[in-house]
Amino acid sequence: MTSDRIFNFGAGPCTLPLPALQKAQRDLLCLPGSGMSVLEISHRSPAFDAIIDKAQDNLRSLLGVPAGYKILFLQGGATLQFSMVALNLLRAADKPADYVVTGVWGEKAVKEAQREGEVRVVWNGKAGSYSSVPQPAELAPDAQAAYLHYTSNETIQGVQFPQALQPRGATLVCDCSSDFLSRPLPVADHGLLYAGAQKNAGPAGVTIVIVREALLERAPQDLHTMLDYRIHAQNNSMYNTPPVFAIYLLQLVTDWLRNEIGGLQKMAELNTRKAGLLYAAIDASAGFYRGHARADSRSQMNVTFRMPSEQLERDFLAQAAARGLQSLEGHRSVGGVRASLYNAMPLAGAQALRDFMVEFCAQHAQ
Ligand SMILES: Cc1ncc(COP(=O)(O)O)c(C=O)c1O
Repeated sequence: MTSDRIFNFGAGPCTLPLPALQKAQRDLLCLPGSGMSVLEISHRSPAFDAIIDKAQDNLRSLLGVPAGYKILFLQGGATLQFSMVALNLLRAADKPADYVVTGVWGEKAVKEAQREGEVRVVWNGKAGSYSSVPQPAELAPDAQAAYLHYTSNETIQGVQFPQALQPRGATLVCDCSSDFLSRPLPVADHGLLYAGAQKNAGPAGVTIVIVREALLERAPQDLHTMLDYRIHAQNNSMYNTPPVFAIYLLQLVTDWLRNEIGGLQKMAELNTRKAGLLYAAIDASAGFYRGHARADSRSQMNVTFRMPSEQLERDFLAQAAARGLQSLEGHRSVGGVRASLYNAMPLAGAQALRDFMVEFCAQHAQ
């Protein structure tokens, strides 16, 4: 029942666009033209060819992916990309890779890369509790490095680069898991982008990698087959059985973004409005709500804040949940409140949370 649906502020897996879910529900038993469920079709069938082609076409169109880039649909989550990036681009490079660390996901990426070669952490926000991203002037990308890796949105801390980094001669690699498809993204400025689908692109189970073809040759020849981007590129992501259902839903979600939202610029405007409501409530609360991120690094996707006491936070979460505003707990490592406002969160959800924040503050601020 759609009327039973609450506002789900979870950080991923998370809310998905209702039209995409409804289409999947309608066609679950019989995919039009195939006589079978999408859960039953072969990945070697014309029906799946049409799905994967459409999913790629949607991504190319939404992001303006230029010629010379491959779009891959892989498994193992964004976490496996921490390793695959380094296996393919660092192991045989004979030069270091640079990492900008603005939160916990960046830390994890560094840990895996260190197994494959020399890593230089060129900026680290840990001393500031990962509350900000660097200003462009604080970074001096080294064109001689194997690549420069950054995390465009740190999901746990709620800090986001206001714009994608400029390459300035470096090969940029971006973990854009939690802001992928939330705003336009200059793909051509990047050597490689990756994103787990389970925020803005679809359900868990598929990871999108967009890679400049020229980089594929940097991989050592003896990589394990499933860890080698070249193999996936040569086989159109079907070297083995791909996550058929996840790719199908990704196609439906990107259909929605193209046809109902009208593209990433429109999506970005809506996302800015939603996040703006919550940040305005934080700023107007005279310190009752303490935003984690510095103002110039605030995430449009994950709004993180603390309150004067843990008891108040528990009361806030319980009362919010009772109103159908759910999954607002901050990540277990940082506590507090985290409101994830991914693409499929409607403006009405952000408004309802803002109204509750204003009311709760009025009741409890000293
Ligand atoms: C920015 C970022 N990178 C990487 C990951 C790990 O993704 P996965 O769970 O798909 O491996 C996450 C998960 O939330 C994330 O938010």
